[in-house]
Amino acid sequence: MKQLLLLNGPNLNRLGKREPDIYGAETLADLENSMKELVKSFGYGLDAFQSNEEGKLIDYIHEADGQYEGIIFNAGAYTHTSIALRDAISSVSVPVIEVHISNVHQRESFRHHSMISPVCIGQIVGFGFKGYKLAALAFMEQD
Ligand code: DQA
Repeated sequence: MKQLLLLNGPNLNRLGKREPDIYGAETLADLENSMKELVKSFGYGLDAFQSNEEGKLIDYIHEADGQYEGIIFNAGAYTHTSIALRDAISSVSVPVIEVHISNVHQRESFRHHSMISPVCIGQIVGFGFKGYKLAALAFMEQD
């Protein structure tokens, strides 16, 4: 069975509690469950991991190489700072789609720049949890 990896970075374990006016009332578990349901209907499987640690996220990306059709990745604030995550994505052949729940371009200027965008196949921002689904569809509808 083809597999997708859903990877969430720092503070996204706080979804539902964290700034609900920006990130909504649903939890990370809600997100992961609804993503599993969606991909199942396309005959795919989905693994989901979240970490607050940059090094763990790097390890998940390395380990994903050859195992997944694609990675749906919200790197949280590391998006704006992490050359190491960018290099991790460059070091594997599995394609990555960058997702942000909020429209980062409408927010503080430090959120406007992404370190990882140049090495991702696409970026989806500002559609809430739906952005993750759009990313999954982008991978699955390529078939
Ligand atoms: C975020 C946007 C980032 O700027 C922020 O640091 C996050 C969440 C989003 O999903 O909108 O943690 O990636």
